[in-house]
Amino acid sequence: MATMNYWTDKWDLHVDICPCDVHVNDWLADQKQTNKLVYHFGTGTHHVVGKEQATNGSGNMVFGITASIEEYDAYIKLVADNARIAKNYVAYFGDIYLTNPKLLPDFDVVTMVHLCEFFFPNTASAEYGGLDARGVPDPVHPKTQSARPTPFSPPFNCSQKAQRQLRARD
Ligand SMILES: C[S@@+](CC[C@H](N)C(=O)[O-])C[C@H]1O[C@@H](n2cnc3c(N)ncnc32)[C@H](O)[C@@H]1O
Repeated sequence: MATMNYWTDKWDLHVDICPCDVHVNDWLADQKQTNKLVYHFGTGTHHVVGKEQATNGSGNMVFGITASIEEYDAYIKLVADNARIAKNYVAYFGDIYLTNPKLLPDFDVVTMVHLCEFFFPNTASAEYGGLDARGVPDPVHPKTQSARPTPFSPPFNCSQKAQRQLRARD
């Protein structure tokens, strides 16, 4: 049986290099989004989207995914220490290319800023049972029918560039 593809690294917040998640929070505030359920692809160790939305009084809730064990460990620690965040922010450890729509609730907002970053050659194989990057929005999109417009971000690859910059900086 195939094992799940996961990311053996982690991502801390580097706003100067990869400000996506701060921009997600800014966008939600600018758009005056309240009481919305946000699907957020790529939590980072910082969990800044889930944390901010759970605590800023907007009433927004976040359902996040991470493929990193360290990022998920950081989530467990975060919610173990803070019941309010635990109530309004759920992150799960998984590979987005294995998304099963039957396990997803309906979303008002979907962010996919990290699509294409972590994709194994076997991802779309029959044995692995995954989707390719073009297929990922398909199971999530029907979960957004209740809200229009749905801000699917274009699949841009901020972090490959960001990782090169970080390596160059070290
Ligand atoms: C470069 S980090 C960026 C983290 C955070 N969004 C930020 O901008 O600071 C990429 C994020 O996407 C997640 N990720 C990458 N590929 C993934 C996949 N196939 N399935 C689920 N999460 C994935 C990683 O776990 C990580 O949280």
